Amino acid sequence: MNPMDIIEKYYDTDSKAYEILVQHALCVTKKALEIAESVPELNPDLRFIEEAAMLHDIGIIRTHVPELGCFGKEPYAKHGIIGREMLEKEGLPKHALICERHTGVGITKEDIEKQGLPLPARDMIPLTLEEEIIALADNFYSKSGEDLTKEKQLSTIRRGLSEYGQEKVVKFDAGCKKFGITI
Ligand SMILES: [Fe+2]
Repeated sequence: MNPMDIIEKYYDTDSKAYEILVQHALCVTKKALEIAESVPELNPDLRFIEEAAMLHDIGIIRTHVPELGCFGKEPYAKHGIIGREMLEKEGLPKHALICERHTGVGITKEDIEKQGLPLPARDMIPLTLEEEIIALADNFYSKSGEDLTKEKQLSTIRRGLSEYGQEKVVKFDAGCKKFGITI
């Protein structure tokens, strides 16, 4: 499977959304592979990580975020579950779960209920090794700002996550520790 073939089914290759999605996806994929390669003893599935990291944000196209070139009807918060639906239709259920579970350090059922998020009330948390690696890698790159290829500093990531609760920072730090990223 070539993830670019799937992306190009849903995105106009001349569009801003395509440019942002692909640039971001390439950065996250590179970081995810770096993390994965640092833990050979855990035997991560590198091919799957490469494919799924490229596709993790495919759902943004159906959300309304004009600054990302996305003019869909749905709120951005739903990009993960939309991506899941898209990839399930493509016959990729395992990749689809990456879409749903990659946001931040995961969104719990409790987060969804407490914050009134426009999401079905279920845990959307990375569970497998590959899900954990891709979600962690995604934190290092933004889809907005001047240079999408610039890796975020740990302090910036932690500050961003702290807005959703200190427990998110604790979880991020635990992920960094597990994969040998210095905190
Ligand atoms: Fe992402």
